[in-house]
Amino acid sequence: MALRYTQRLLQTQVPFLTRGYPLLVTKEKGEDVAHTKSALQKKWTGVDIPSAQYGGRHAVTMLPGGGIGPELMHYIREIFRFVGAPVDFEVIEIDPSTEGNDDLDYAITSIKRNGVAIKGNIETKSQGLDEVSRNVAIRNELDLYVNVLHCRSYPGIPSRHKNIDVVLIRQNTDGEYAMLEHESVRGVVESMKVVTVENAERVARYAFEYARQNNRKKVTTIHKANIMKLSDGLFLEVAKNVHKEYPEIEHNNMIIDNTCMQLVSNPHQFDVMNMTNLYGTIVSNVICGLIGGAGLLSGANYGDHFAVFEPGTRNTGTAIAGKNIANPVAMINASADMLNHLGHKEHARVIYEATYETVVNDGIRTPDLGGTASSTDVVENILKILARKRVNWPQGQYRD
Ligand code: NAI
Repeated sequence: MALRYTQRLLQTQVPFLTRGYPLLVTKEKGEDVAHTKSALQKKWTGVDIPSAQYGGRHAVTMLPGGGIGPELMHYIREIFRFVGAPVDFEVIEIDPSTEGNDDLDYAITSIKRNGVAIKGNIETKSQGLDEVSRNVAIRNELDLYVNVLHCRSYPGIPSRHKNIDVVLIRQNTDGEYAMLEHESVRGVVESMKVVTVENAERVARYAFEYARQNNRKKVTTIHKANIMKLSDGLFLEVAKNVHKEYPEIEHNNMIIDNTCMQLVSNPHQFDVMNMTNLYGTIVSNVICGLIGGAGLLSGANYGDHFAVFEPGTRNTGTAIAGKNIANPVAMINASADMLNHLGHKEHARVIYEATYETVVNDGIRTPDLGGTASSTDVVENILKILARKRVNWPQGQYRD
């Protein structure tokens, strides 16, 4: 991928480098236009949740991605059509094997215009040094600084523990994903882990505010500050400072390696977890594994202005693509999260309920959950249940 994206990432991730430099570069009329932070704030303030367009409908960017992404998106469109969800998708294929960034630029522009996206994982094909992950580029360009994963057990799914209910709040744009590596002398490679006060504070505040708003009791900050004293030390110190504004919430901290062991042996001790980028992906994969694998849970990426919804573990599932065995539940849950975000709460409710009833009550499960059902069996059962459910449309909105 062109160097331009690496430079953009560097500018968006390292505030001290951006002082006096553009925070973000966008294409306007074919030209690169640099924006300062204040110009961006002026331009984008107050567009948290996009307002509905004609007839109460929302436009949403759909990025199918690779592997099982396209087939899962097909199910989402089928379900949305069936319940009359007031959403029009703008579908953008990003082909990682093509040269250049045109697809990626188009996707980012589309999300900026629509405010919301649903996405599968886009494969990073090349190991080349100038190849930047499109997934990371999207998160950084849109400043989606927090990833939220609500990990709840599904009754009846074989797992080591029952009744897990943990919320992971992950810093989503810097930390170990800075992708700033170099070989200082032959045989010695250095990699920068970037922690900034600004982003550590935004994610800690999100975690404590989430706990307050959702009647949660405890936030645990995950770190390795005993070894990474400056970077993780700063992340932990900022969390402790933010905690002072939330005295009713308990705050403790735990080292990442111990956290993984504690999650496997006693996950019930955790309530809300606050962590850096890499620890976030490790911990989310551990918990998803405990609950039932990559096919169940959804995750949401939020910034101040945009939101992107996707399966919680962000896998591509390339080996099972096209075999009609991929579990569609995580992507369906992501689509219902998206409807909730847009305020279409009734449509979200019936989709959550029908999905839950299919997996838990009817026991229609794909092989990853120990079942024998195909992906289409799961979707057809969801549609069957949806046919019996009533969507209470808010006044002023009509089913088409
Ligand atoms: P993968 O795509 O091979 O999936 C891991 C396992 O989960 C496989 O056995 C797969 O069959 C299964 N799986 C995934 N989704 C499933 C579904 N919906 N239903 C049933 N089974 C499902 O994952 P891997 O090797 O971790 O990553 C593949 C690609 O995804 C790589 O390009 C990687 O960079 C990218 N990726 C993975 C992330 C992760 O958290 N694991 C995070 C970000 C990117």
